Amino acid sequence: MEKPTFYITTPIYYPSDKLHIGHAYSTVATDAIARYKRLCGYDVMFLTGTDEHGQKIETKAAAAGKTPQQFVDEIVEGPGGIRDLWKLMNISNDRFIRTTDDYHVKSIQRIFRKMYDKGDIYKGKYSGMYCTPCESFWTESQLVDGRCPDCGGEVKYAEEEAYFFRLSRYADRVRELLLSGTFLEPASRVNEMVRNFLDCEGGLQDLCVSRTTFQWGVPVDFDPGHVVYVWVDALSNYITALGYENDRYQDYQRYWPADVHIVGKEIVRFHSIIWPAMLMSLGEPLPKKVYGHGWLVMDGGKMSKSKGNVVDPYMLAERYGVDALRFFLLRTFPFGADGNFSNELLISCINTDLANDLGNLLSRTTAMVQKYFGGTLPAEQAEGPEDGELLALAAGLRDRYQEQMDRFQLQNGLAEVFRVVSRANKYIDETMPWILAKTEAQRPRLARVLYNLLESLRLCGTLLRPFMPESMDRLFAQIGAGPEETGWDAAGRWFVLPAQVRVEKGENLFPRIDVQKELEALAKLHAPQKDPVDPVLPEVPFDDFCRCDIRACKVLECENVKKSEKLLRFRLDDGTGTPRQILSGIAKWYKPEELVGKTVAAILNLPPRKMMGQESNGMLLSAEYREGGQEKLRLILLDDGIPAGARFC
Ligand code: MSP
Repeated sequence: MEKPTFYITTPIYYPSDKLHIGHAYSTVATDAIARYKRLCGYDVMFLTGTDEHGQKIETKAAAAGKTPQQFVDEIVEGPGGIRDLWKLMNISNDRFIRTTDDYHVKSIQRIFRKMYDKGDIYKGKYSGMYCTPCESFWTESQLVDGRCPDCGGEVKYAEEEAYFFRLSRYADRVRELLLSGTFLEPASRVNEMVRNFLDCEGGLQDLCVSRTTFQWGVPVDFDPGHVVYVWVDALSNYITALGYENDRYQDYQRYWPADVHIVGKEIVRFHSIIWPAMLMSLGEPLPKKVYGHGWLVMDGGKMSKSKGNVVDPYMLAERYGVDALRFFLLRTFPFGADGNFSNELLISCINTDLANDLGNLLSRTTAMVQKYFGGTLPAEQAEGPEDGELLALAAGLRDRYQEQMDRFQLQNGLAEVFRVVSRANKYIDETMPWILAKTEAQRPRLARVLYNLLESLRLCGTLLRPFMPESMDRLFAQIGAGPEETGWDAAGRWFVLPAQVRVEKGENLFPRIDVQKELEALAKLHAPQKDPVDPVLPEVPFDDFCRCDIRACKVLECENVKKSEKLLRFRLDDGTGTPRQILSGIAKWYKPEELVGKTVAAILNLPPRKMMGQESNGMLLSAEYREGGQEKLRLILLDDGIPAGARFC
């Protein structure tokens, strides 16, 4: 019989920085669900990828002196990049899409045109307060003290031609979908969406879906100069990666509609309102479910690079092992709600569940089979009164686990398994194998006790495998369980391992961590890097200093020097009446437009110097320093009231 299909996706990540543990959380959870579904016998398609277009990437690339494509290539494919991270975390995605992939770009152009031909995309005017250096429109309410919320600069009212998507046309159908009860989960997110975006003043508004203020995006093929709004581009990945409007893949019929899109709570709006409306416009089936998970927070706030509170998944995986980290993330925090990350929680989870409960159960059991039976249990075994409770609890485990896992209650699914792990440990205390071992006549009973423990480990290991694939394979090797004995069907039965099972005691799967020592080591790792003190240079005679002609200059023009990633070319008013050209290697730190009109400090009487074929007559003064181990540079900007030519003394 053909397997039923299951299509599951993660959000596609912005390659604007290295990913942190919050991103890993989304992907690890999705991976555990995908592996669980494969275990249940589904033909799973698990998609992840990267969302590579947009102004933010363009700006970051420019600041790093790279082209956007070079910049994203490094973060996605480079050493320690996103692909490497998923390999390290043992993510079992079947496909990886990059929105810069050729086939995706072409499909987006077709999708955009299809919605346009349908009359759902029209040309209109985008207006608002515009910040020139940031090339961004802001609404009045987004401004901070009337200025740009990003750079703090001045904003001006501006209008721009843009394409709009008739989102408003789909308001009723989207409302119906949201209220259908199964589309968006957890249910608490439904009201939030309806209240904030559908029942708000003005109702669901049409959406601006093209930009002309930057280039790094998919060009609208029938109107050059416009690039497709990054969310239209990004959301479509879920279908283009299956072959929608392209020949690269042929899986659309087989896997679409998706069974579930796993997304973080802040992007639920895009997935539960805009995405279904786009599909309605395209006349395609809607995804069956969007699941909005909570955030991993630190001290109550979302992790973010700018707050400096991000946790590096590489570091954690290296210290504790990938499986322990995967397990911790899904065992500790309820999937639908926020969870507060801390090192203490992480260590205590590893020590309690993995080292003490599961690890001990395995090492005690295998050690006893070795010690009392040389590694192989005898066929003659005897049941006893203590067996009933353990077997009864274990008998319903697979169903209870399934019920939770099918609702994406991963934490509860794990809790069910650990109930059986604890019960098995208690069973050791009740049956006291070390006492049984003293009497020859009790050997059949001792054999059955150990057999039941091995069965408990087999069963729990099978259900834990989606969370800790590599460690559970090592567990299976120790208890002599093969693939047939660790499948979904076998997880619903007892007496699966042969009576004369052969056990290999192996190394400890989850070593116990010394809490105090570890917390101290982590605190050291997280301590901000001290920047070295820059010593004062030797004295110079006062007269030498006075010979330096340093003056205030006004920036008349500023532009990038062609073919140079570093240099900016300035035309300055130095007060002499003749504009002066100075080249400065600060393109990494400033955009030319930011500096026009500013008052800067320059030393004018240095010998002229040629750079990239152009002459520089002097040098701009700037401050160079290190912050958090990183090199920084700021130009010395003077009070604009100081006139051009004013001399430093
Ligand atoms: N590119 C968009 C998604 C487009 S999907 C068509 C995006 N990218 S992202 O890199 O900013 O975030 C990707 C996912 O990581 C989101 O689901 C987001 O919620 C998740 N997380 C980022 N930080 C997180 C935490 N601190 N905690 C949990 N998840 C977090 O949004």
